[in-house]
Amino acid sequence: MTVVASDDRDRRSLVRDLEAYLIGLRDMYGDYVVVDPEGTVSAARPEPRPEGRGSVAGGAGAPFRSEPPLPNRGLQPVAAGTREPRPEGRGSVAGTAPTCPPGPQQTSFLPSDVPALAAPGLRRVRAAEPGVIDFGPGPDVVRGPCSPEVRAEALRALDEGQVKGCTKCRLSQARTQTVFGVGHPCARVMFVGEGPGAEEDRRGEPFVGRAGALLDRIIAAMNLRRADVYIANTVKCRPPENRTPYPDEMEACAPYLRTQLETVCPQVLVALGRPAAQCLLGVNSSLGELRGRFHRHRGIPVMVTYHPAYLLRNPDAKKATWDDVKLVMRFLAETPDPLLLPTDPSRC
Ligand code: URA
Ligand code: SF4
Repeated sequence: MTVVASDDRDRRSLVRDLEAYLIGLRDMYGDYVVVDPEGTVSAARPEPRPEGRGSVAGGAGAPFRSEPPLPNRGLQPVAAGTREPRPEGRGSVAGTAPTCPPGPQQTSFLPSDVPALAAPGLRRVRAAEPGVIDFGPGPDVVRGPCSPEVRAEALRALDEGQVKGCTKCRLSQARTQTVFGVGHPCARVMFVGEGPGAEEDRRGEPFVGRAGALLDRIIAAMNLRRADVYIANTVKCRPPENRTPYPDEMEACAPYLRTQLETVCPQVLVALGRPAAQCLLGVNSSLGELRGRFHRHRGIPVMVTYHPAYLLRNPDAKKATWDDVKLVMRFLAETPDPLLLPTDPSRC
């Protein structure tokens, strides 16, 4: 077991307090507050963003920067000075093996005050209702093997062994290739999109087209890197003409997403768009009804927000998505990072 020196812990707790404070400031002042790698705060006018037809960065009040943030602008959930930098992303699989949380803390980062579908207006529906599949409910997700290498191997085995050759639904017929998922196998945040588009179908990776570029900016605005998060879709094959996946297609593909989720076991899920939200929450509500607060999927808090493709068409909705993203950032700042907790190899 790794023993963490108490001054290390004090330092981490100070850094967490500072992070929460900085996020609070940024909540109040938005882009006017710039958090630099040293953790100092300055008031600065955000640079003007290029306007233009189709410019996703230039929408009114667009909160997402058009360029990547400075490297580690200070709000990374990893406390500065407590760990070597991980240039390839969070606990890069190839890099130093991160620690796993000890037993009692394994579920403690799931807040007890997040209501489980308690908000008015939510309708839990039967699986048979058109437009909705019953992805859950299931038992709370428990953390799987905690080593990133083990999780990465489990994900690879699922992809290679089952998904790549899958013909369980009609979407297999027109695909170029399956699009499994990408990211850190121990990510704290998992984004769930709808289904691959043309570019994703061509390259075999989720969110690499125009919507993906916007998702990258959302991730950067969270002071995270793409390599820090995990990104998956409700279906692994491109629906023809980019149509919304049919319920039976999402249902056929759900076991893969379910295993991805159980393997990565993120601390928080972000459902991008209505199909992902319906898939994870089993409700038939509109996105407007669902967004803006946490729900739960098998014990994991779920934030529902607009799909980046929708934001490209409706830039005015970016403000709402930024509000949703800030709630996720606040949750992360207030929640222990399991990789920073001491290792208990007996639980791996
Ligand atoms: N839209 C999605 O929902 N997923 C992708 O991977 C790309 C675009
Ligand atoms: Fe299989 Fe999912 Fe592709 Fe359908 S969408 S063929 S279930 S991998």
